[in-house]
Amino acid sequence: MAVREILKMGDARLLRVAQPVTGFDTDALHLLISDLFDTMAAANGAGLAAPQIGVDLQLVIFGTNQINPRYPDAPLVPRTVLLNPVLTPLGDEQEEGWEGCLSVPGLRGMVPRYTRIHYRGFDQYGDPIERTVGGFHARVVQHECDHLIGKLYPMRVRDFTQFGYTEVLFPGLDASDD
Ligand code: NI
Repeated sequence: MAVREILKMGDARLLRVAQPVTGFDTDALHLLISDLFDTMAAANGAGLAAPQIGVDLQLVIFGTNQINPRYPDAPLVPRTVLLNPVLTPLGDEQEEGWEGCLSVPGLRGMVPRYTRIHYRGFDQYGDPIERTVGGFHARVVQHECDHLIGKLYPMRVRDFTQFGYTEVLFPGLDASDD
């Protein structure tokens, strides 16, 4: 159990296409996931991808089982470990929403995401996960899985008049961990 260093935008390791996980339910995998949860909790994140701590694997965690001070208005998303994910948009509809990222501290941007998606993958034991989701849940999954293809949310921002410092855009928000 350890809080790991989160890589920041500019680090080339964030730009890699991650490798699939091939071994499930191993000690090394459980330790890595434990570290990811510790690191996400310490930073009040809503999600974290293995590449953000320099691990080149298709592994993301996310979930907001309690109110997150960084996203106080966000609906709850079940705590999830997702390996080798495959995302499929359901329809063409997209919606804009504010995003932040622990690898891009201090900033928020307006990012278009598919409103509804289907996703599938595996948990840490190799059991399949399959869900159809919308709204904030769909946004979080798209954001985290983007980390597995070397994409950070600023690369998705279309309108740079809606990209800026959290403390300026949202005065009073607890952004101490941004
Ligand atoms: Ni992120």
